[in-house]
Amino acid sequence: MGKQRFSTVFLRLKWISADLLASVCHMKRAVCPGSFDPLTFGHLDIIERASAQFDEVVIAVLVNRTKSSMFTVQERMEMIAKTTAHLPNIRIDSWSGLLVEYCKSNDIQSIVKGLRAVTDFDYELQMAQVNLQASGVETMFMATAPAHSFLSSSLVKELAHYGGDVSSMVPKIVNEALKARVAESGN
Ligand code: PNS
Repeated sequence: MGKQRFSTVFLRLKWISADLLASVCHMKRAVCPGSFDPLTFGHLDIIERASAQFDEVVIAVLVNRTKSSMFTVQERMEMIAKTTAHLPNIRIDSWSGLLVEYCKSNDIQSIVKGLRAVTDFDYELQMAQVNLQASGVETMFMATAPAHSFLSSSLVKELAHYGGDVSSMVPKIVNEALKARVAESGN
C-alpha cells in the first residue's frame, strides 16, 4: 500500500464517529434525565454511580412543563459540564419532547432515575411503566444516598431565595450561580 493511500485510510479510521463505534460495539448507554434546575449533590451522586455502570451516560436536560425554571437550559448544561468534567463517559444534551423519543433516536436502552423516598415512587413508577409500554426502554431506579434523600432543586432554590446557605447541597459553581441569580432578581 502506498504511503498516501495508507494515510488516507488512517485518516478515515480516525474520523469514525463515537456514535458509529458505539453501535458497532453495542455500547451500554443510559440517560439520566431531569430538569437539573439546578444540579444538586443528589443528582451528581446518581450521575457518578450511573457512569460506573454504563459505557456511556447522557445527561439530558429536559423541559418539565409543570415547573418554571430559574436557569436557562444552556446555563444548566454548562454547570453540569463543569461539575462532571472528571467523568470520562458523560455526554450532556438537551431535549424538549418525549423522553422515549430521545432514547430511540440516540440508541439509549436505559433510563436511570434516583429514588429519594417513597413519595417519589408513585409518579416515577407510573412514568417508568408508560415509557416501557411506549417504547420498551427500561427504567433503572437507584436508591439516593441517605445524605441526599431530602434534597431537591426546588428546596435549594427556595433556601437560596431567602439567603439560606446551600453550600452543602450543591457544587460550588452552582452555589455561586444561585447567589448571582438571587442578587439579580433583587427580591
Ligand atoms: O427533574 P425533574 O423535573 O423531576 O424531571 C422530570 C422529567 C423532565 C425527567 C420528566 O418530566 C420527563 O421525562 N419529561 C419529558 C416528557 C416525557 O417524556 N414525559 C413522560 C411521559 S409519561
